Amino acid sequence: MADTGPTLRFRDVCIPQKAGEDVLSQLLLAGAPIQYLCMGGTCGTCRVRVLRGQEHLNEVAPGERHWFPDTTGEVRLACQAICKGTGDVVVEQSLKPTRQSKAV
Ligand code: FES
Repeated sequence: MADTGPTLRFRDVCIPQKAGEDVLSQLLLAGAPIQYLCMGGTCGTCRVRVLRGQEHLNEVAPGERHWFPDTTGEVRLACQAICKGTGDVVVEQSLKPTRQSKAV
């Protein structure tokens, strides 16, 4: 089987990864059942745990620090996590997302 390049996986959805595009948009286009609201980094609904490939995503954005002050990249906002296209990325989302009560 031919090498298709880096992939992006969420549950049973596994798609060819698009470098420079955010995780949320790619997964939504693929029909993945990922939860989201704003698509702009402000609601926190799209929070995902990065199970594999943190190094293949952009640096944690300053706006994500509001939600995850101490993250080293293991938790991201899918709408702010940009794929570099350098290797496989696997993310997961809790079935019951917890909303952070922190004021903006
Ligand atoms: S969808 Fe709201 S922060 Fe990502």
